Amino acid sequence: MPQTSLPTYRIAPSILSADFARLGDEVKAVIAAGADWIHFDVMDNHYVPNLTFGPMVCQALKPHAHRADGTAVPIDVHLMVQPVDSLAAAFAGAGADLISFHPDASGHVHRSVQAIKAQGCKAGLVFNPAAPLDVLDWVIDDIDLILIMSVNPGFGGQSFIDSALRKIEDARRRIDASGKDIRLEVDGGIKTDNIARVAAAGADTFVAGSAIFGKPDYRQVIDAMRVALAG
Ligand code: DX5
Ligand code: ZN
Repeated sequence: MPQTSLPTYRIAPSILSADFARLGDEVKAVIAAGADWIHFDVMDNHYVPNLTFGPMVCQALKPHAHRADGTAVPIDVHLMVQPVDSLAAAFAGAGADLISFHPDASGHVHRSVQAIKAQGCKAGLVFNPAAPLDVLDWVIDDIDLILIMSVNPGFGGQSFIDSALRKIEDARRRIDASGKDIRLEVDGGIKTDNIARVAAAGADTFVAGSAIFGKPDYRQVIDAMRVALAG
């Protein structure tokens, strides 16, 4: 069916690539540059071979997660941790708005989703490049977000894995068939020159770390992404 209007696209800068010595200023700067969400990559050096930040950093950044007009900017927590439940609860208490986790990192996926939602947060599932979407058969009606990894989790600055495009198309079909309002987010290797292709596959929310942070003008990059999306 032809798409009558463009979906609401969201740019979610990942602070994994921000200056860790100035995280508060970086969050404020990227929000002022037009970021829709703040993507918070949590790594435990167990589920992935890297270690980042915990709930206390989320709590410290939460007061800065709002626009000039006072509207809140959602904190989109991506848990690359195992086990999931205790840290998910801690991030819910630290101000996370969305919490997504990798199904293979939880012993009871449906229960972990229920626990995140019981804390008042939106719940998401994250799928690694070789992970199938089968679990969605049983939980798609309970989640608010599907996050497709287009790189192997653990590091920013990697190249986009093209097979993710087929998985995004499959996820889009599943979301449309479910009739539910579920965000389809893609994480890894997203740049101004490939974001339109990722949107064409069906994504509506885009994580971008190294494409934004480390660049001289955050707004210039985010605006260029939006121009590419408006195609
Ligand atoms: C991987 C991380 C990265 C990050 C985005 O675990 O989740 O994908 O958010 O990094 P870039 O945009 O630099 O590929
Ligand atoms: Zn991420």
